[in-house]
Amino acid sequence: MTGSTGGTGNTGGTGSTGNTGNTGNTGVEGVTVSRDGSPVLTDVTLLAGDGELLAVLGPSGSGKSTLLRVIAGLARADRGEVLVRGRRVTDSPPGERHVAMVFESSALLPFLDVSSNLGWGLKAQRMPAAEVQERVTSRARQLRLSRLLPRKPAQLSEGERGLVGIGKALVRVPDVFLLDEPLAHLDAAQRARVRRQVVEVVRSLGVTTLYVTHDQAEALAVADRLALLHEGAVVQVGKPMELYERPVDLVACGFVGSPPVGLLPARLVSSGGLAGFEVGSRTLPLWRPVPEPLRPYAGQEVVLGLRAEDVHEAAGDTDPEAMALDAVVTAVEYTGRHNVLTLAVGAAPVTAPGATLAAGTSAGATLRSFFPPRAAVRVGDAVRVAVDAARAHVFSARTGRALWHPTDAHPRRSWPSQPREDR
Ligand SMILES: Nc1ncnc2c1ncn2[C@@H]1O[C@H](COP(=O)(O)OP(=O)(O)O)[C@@H](O)[C@H]1O
Ligand SMILES: [Mg+2]
Repeated sequence: MTGSTGGTGNTGGTGSTGNTGNTGNTGVEGVTVSRDGSPVLTDVTLLAGDGELLAVLGPSGSGKSTLLRVIAGLARADRGEVLVRGRRVTDSPPGERHVAMVFESSALLPFLDVSSNLGWGLKAQRMPAAEVQERVTSRARQLRLSRLLPRKPAQLSEGERGLVGIGKALVRVPDVFLLDEPLAHLDAAQRARVRRQVVEVVRSLGVTTLYVTHDQAEALAVADRLALLHEGAVVQVGKPMELYERPVDLVACGFVGSPPVGLLPARLVSSGGLAGFEVGSRTLPLWRPVPEPLRPYAGQEVVLGLRAEDVHEAAGDTDPEAMALDAVVTAVEYTGRHNVLTLAVGAAPVTAPGATLAAGTSAGATLRSFFPPRAAVRVGDAVRVAVDAARAHVFSARTGRALWHPTDAHPRRSWPSQPREDR
């Protein structure tokens, strides 16, 4: 909602009406951008395959808008190359890049009705009027905004204006769609619906799309692959499930998934040939020998990342003592399906690099847990939770890098990571 880009809703108005028919990757290679002497993007390489929907996810200020503006030609990189469908466009003006962009705040021409606003760019490209009409009508139908066509922008709600801004880009068939937080102006109910419609349109057109969002759920929902940006650098690129199940570090683990992952400081121990994690006076058993990748860390401090779905209410006396942890409830959020509990565990806070994006790390170790919605728990209650160490992501306490994931115990044949082969 910042509107910081102050955009016009569409760029490249002088390009052709259809895409160029080129094929190839779209994005940036080795791009570095600094502003006022400080780095905004540092050696970023990020390429979407032909027709791929690549989500660019990152917290506010991570450089997402700058990245799109560099691709659109609205901002210059200090170093690096920009590619649009295999064409090197680093030095081309925006109008020759064949990109259509939706900004956080897309401006509409106030004196034209929605229909004319939508067709404006196509007309400027000398598309015949009948064809413009047909394109506008069909796209309006796809985005369910037909009833808005005769209205002037002043007669629209903010959400409707946002929707028209999206439509204005999607009437074109460019080489790449650049969508910068396109749903920012919509209310929660609209967001899910419009998100599906936008995805439907770009998929039916087969146009390569870079979809920027700070909302991890949105990124997971729309993306073929998603790229996590943090402080101007790419942390991880992969399929949504890969980022969720195999985060490369505490930043990725903390930013992807809701509620945020819980983190526990622990010491990796081996006794009687079996691995375990010492948390305070308890040892969480892994029920297997120390896995090969963890062997160099035996006896050392690690960080356990545990998702809420893997932390359960301990069921009375039946849980083995060693697997249960005592905790104090610090927040209860009712979602209908669950009570989402935030739990303080009597352990030191996690200070490993990247830990700040995850569950509260200032006052002590924090876990999250889904409790049954009817469980009568209140803030301040003492609870006992069962934790299965085999479900823990294990990170180096020194670097924050991931050392072991639960899926490593039963590896899939491959985790595709290349732009083209994985779709
Ligand atoms: N023109 C500019 N001058 C100075 N700093 C800028 C400029 N544009 C962006 N920045 C800085 O670059 C960083 C990334 O900004 P931006 O790309 O807008 O991030 P995002 O879209 O991920 O929120 C921010 O710290 C922002 O303050
Ligand atoms: Mg932005």
